[in-house]
Amino acid sequence: MKIVKALILVFILGATTTVMAQNKDRIPEVESLLDKMTIDEKIGQLNLLTPGGGVATGSVVSENVEAKIKAGNVGGLFGVASPKKMKIAQDLAVKKSRLQIPLLFGSDIIHGYKTTFPIPLGLAASWDMDLIKSTAQIAAKEATADGINWNFSPMVDISRDPRWGRISEGAGEDAYLGSAIARAMVTGYQGDNLMDTNTMLSCVKHFALYGAVEGGRDYNSVDMSRVKMFNQYLPPYKAAIDAGAASVMTSFNDVDGIPATGNKWLLTDLLRDCWGFEGFVVSDYTSLNEMIAHGLGDLQAVSALALKAGLDMDMVGEGFLSTLKKSLEEGKVTETEINNACRRVLEAKYKLGLFDDPYRYIDDSRPEKDILTEENREVARKAAQHSFVLLKNENNVLPLKKASSIALVGPLADSRNNMLGTWAPTGDVKNAITILEGFKNVAPNATINYAKGSNILNDEELAKKINVFGPRVEISKESPEALLKEALAMANKSDVVVAVVGEATEMSGEAASRTDITIPEAQKKLIRALVATGKPVVLVLMSGRPLEIPEEFDMPVSILQVWHPGVEAGNAIADVVYGDYNPSGKLTATWPRSVGQIPVYHSMKNTGRPAPASEEFQKFKSNYLDEKNSPLLPFGYGLSYTTFEYSNIKLNKEKISQGDAVEVSVTLKNTGNYDGEETVQLYLHDVVRSITPPNRQLKGFKKVFLKKGESKTVMITLQPEDLKFYNSNIEFVAEPGAFEVFVGGDSDASLKASFILQ
Ligand code: BGC
Repeated sequence: MKIVKALILVFILGATTTVMAQNKDRIPEVESLLDKMTIDEKIGQLNLLTPGGGVATGSVVSENVEAKIKAGNVGGLFGVASPKKMKIAQDLAVKKSRLQIPLLFGSDIIHGYKTTFPIPLGLAASWDMDLIKSTAQIAAKEATADGINWNFSPMVDISRDPRWGRISEGAGEDAYLGSAIARAMVTGYQGDNLMDTNTMLSCVKHFALYGAVEGGRDYNSVDMSRVKMFNQYLPPYKAAIDAGAASVMTSFNDVDGIPATGNKWLLTDLLRDCWGFEGFVVSDYTSLNEMIAHGLGDLQAVSALALKAGLDMDMVGEGFLSTLKKSLEEGKVTETEINNACRRVLEAKYKLGLFDDPYRYIDDSRPEKDILTEENREVARKAAQHSFVLLKNENNVLPLKKASSIALVGPLADSRNNMLGTWAPTGDVKNAITILEGFKNVAPNATINYAKGSNILNDEELAKKINVFGPRVEISKESPEALLKEALAMANKSDVVVAVVGEATEMSGEAASRTDITIPEAQKKLIRALVATGKPVVLVLMSGRPLEIPEEFDMPVSILQVWHPGVEAGNAIADVVYGDYNPSGKLTATWPRSVGQIPVYHSMKNTGRPAPASEEFQKFKSNYLDEKNSPLLPFGYGLSYTTFEYSNIKLNKEKISQGDAVEVSVTLKNTGNYDGEETVQLYLHDVVRSITPPNRQLKGFKKVFLKKGESKTVMITLQPEDLKFYNSNIEFVAEPGAFEVFVGGDSDASLKASFILQ
């Protein structure tokens, strides 16, 4: 209740609110250290540097890092390539700086450290929270074995825009699923005890609303109503905070006209005062300095703005380091504000046990036994299998028989550089299994006729832009015609064609937005020609985003969506193609028919002029002249080698009171010829309420395994808070009236029941 009231106050008063900072317990060791520190030393703790070496994502790289550490001008480092180098840096901090304060070591371990798991959008498609949590635990174990104690993950930005390259890094379009995944990841990284050397600080990012950049263009502006942000975009960040995330990273975009990095409403009023966050907030890479370009003033002005807003640590830009003392002298910031920020950074170090032993994460005996072990690779293989989504299975061609002869073609079939996916800077492409290798491992007796068939794309200028992290798109010296000819020869002498096509790794990810999200034309030509041979064709489709594939979907082909599967890519794909694992992934972001439909997502509203259910065009209705409203593939969609039948939906009550839960049960039957897993999904429609409701919203799911022929009763409980939403006063309420419940295997589920909230 207190929180709701504070929230209302914040909402009404906006940025002028002065809700008192919480009086939490102070840590005596941190307080006595603070007492000893000079202003310069305090400001030094707010400075996060990267010694470089990789590709800097901002415009600034850190210089004179050693001298700055010795002078007590650095609170932490990230992107340090090895534990040996971390040891040298920590030595400088604890042996050469006056107060011997240890450094934090951060990194981006987005989907695994050396054992690279599928990209997060793929992991999300598993709908398996235990599995996702175990990938985070392994990431933490491996990273801490190499000295890292702070992870810039999870990325929980909701996105409904597949043009945005970073949709690959998150859980997709839905706040309910996104919240569950945020919890799984934070608890996976942090464990129960941060003092445990297998765990690390998590950093939930990018706070906030980064996934809603206009036009899907990276770093662009965001403008969103409060009801939309509270209901649809903020829940995963809050879930991560509630799960105990130790730090938060701000986003590059503005929120209500103020860049997140300098936004007091966001960083203090909401995050700390309403949500009770007690950790520290770090900027994104030079996002503090970027407020100059946003038009908010010079470096001194934006640094003061950020500190006062609640930013504690400045990533790379050194705006705090170079201007805060002057601002203090000129009365533009207060010592209390600097103390508060410094305290939060020191508290994080204390929680990790760094004051007891600054070298506790640097242990020479660990890397060999903890990193990239067979056991970890097994989890990577399993995670990849579970992330694949079967989009189409023409004539039940899949699974293939291990004895058949296969033409394995396509520019991604033997492309080690494209297996790990975007944002895998700690992974090593050399460790990745290609599809060609995986097929040979899993079906050693099969005849595999390999040919590249085409380039990923033929545009050299575009290839250059994609190849910043290494050769992802390699344009062959052979002509496109020669490549195609070779592939067709392979197809003609094989029983079946498996074509591995789609996006190169760096065609999604940061600063990789696309306005055209189709399969590149070079590969489309290959696909058309393969289909024309009349052989059965299976497309193994790789991408970091939902693609626009109506043309391919209409062809007589089977399609297995595999995202970028990580270090075990080839083995996992072969496992699924040959039926050693029956695919169970479900889409977590809607696939549009055309880019012009974007945004298109499952929780859209009815409008006052809904289009007819038949999707026939009607003048003066909410529809397009040239396209249907419905997407090509709805949220939650995914096939299996078996089939599932839903029946017998029941609720334990038809009328409930405020605070009551509702138990929903259905009978699920495996009606096909294989054992398999199905993700049962529950969608809720609040029929009448004070602000316009979405037609349906995900409010529950359960992944169930059924042997062939088996039936099970599946129960999902709707908790009282599942009926709630933020109304126009930003009160979190459930309003009396009718609710409809839909249960099924995707967001078009038709099995329906209703109840009344009195
Ligand atoms: C990204 C962050 C990342 C940071 C540090 C930025 O460009 O937006 O997600 O954590 O770089 O590598």
